[in-house]
Amino acid sequence: MTIQKQGSLVCVGTGMRMGGQLTPIAQSYIETFDIVVAAVPNIFTRKWLQGVAKEYICLNSYYEDMNIEGKNRRDTYRRMADTILAEMRKGKRVCAAFYGHPGIFACISHMAIADARAEGYQAHMEPGISALDCLVADLGIDPGTYGMQSMESTQFMIYHRTIDTTALLILWQPGIAGELALKKLETNEEYLQILVNKLARSYSLDHEVILYEAATDPLEKTRIDKIRLGDLPRMTLKQITTLVIPPSKSLERDQSIIDELNAIAAQRGQVQQAA
Ligand SMILES: C[S@@+](CC[C@H](N)C(=O)[O-])C[C@H]1O[C@@H](n2cnc3c(N)ncnc32)[C@H](O)[C@@H]1O
Repeated sequence: MTIQKQGSLVCVGTGMRMGGQLTPIAQSYIETFDIVVAAVPNIFTRKWLQGVAKEYICLNSYYEDMNIEGKNRRDTYRRMADTILAEMRKGKRVCAAFYGHPGIFACISHMAIADARAEGYQAHMEPGISALDCLVADLGIDPGTYGMQSMESTQFMIYHRTIDTTALLILWQPGIAGELALKKLETNEEYLQILVNKLARSYSLDHEVILYEAATDPLEKTRIDKIRLGDLPRMTLKQITTLVIPPSKSLERDQSIIDELNAIAAQRGQVQQAA
């Protein structure tokens, strides 16, 4: 029989926009668990968390570790996960809060949950409203219309990836594209030119792409800048920018598959036409 240890972990998201995007279940964990450990950039959200949490630890200052020689972003994320786990090992019910969805491009919660479970603690994640959810709503793009590819910008640059230009491509973190040392939260014109050169293997430099930044509080304006792909290196990109690349080619039917499906339907006595 497995004995469940005292102490538990739930990872929640606070959504992208201050006020309204927090799910009722996330709010309930934040308000009722023994401690909230949070990495949330919006100052108003942080203040609210601090006000309602029984005990509160803010992880934001851990990003300064990246300035220490020999340390990089991975060390910062590990230290954040370790802080969450240390509170749980004390027997507390820990609510770890991150902006957006706690599990989308957010490795800390995945690491913490995996480690907690491996040690026999109860741990789970509650979904939140991510940048992608806001993007779909603000840009009026349905990922189901042409299909969607979604990947991290630097990963796209440094690995061989097969891009489907008939589907939407979402590149996350273009604002730190090419920063292989994992020590800075910025990119530069030369790195972005390399990103563009790689994209130009699949798209024309005149292809229209979108720089998207969801408003994170009601007073901010959402950024939806439609630009030529070739102009990307000269644009201002922030840590919160997402690069949206609409399809450049039309979907092409795979007639052999359609014929196979119709043949099966015919054998079954059904009449089927390809949509
Ligand atoms: C470390 S990931 C965090 C994603 C977050 N967990 C979520 O659920 O959306 C950071 C990346 O998310 C995207 N992002 C974060 N905030 C955004 C915003 N306000 N608008 C658009 N994209 C955003 C950007 O691509 C950014 O580089």
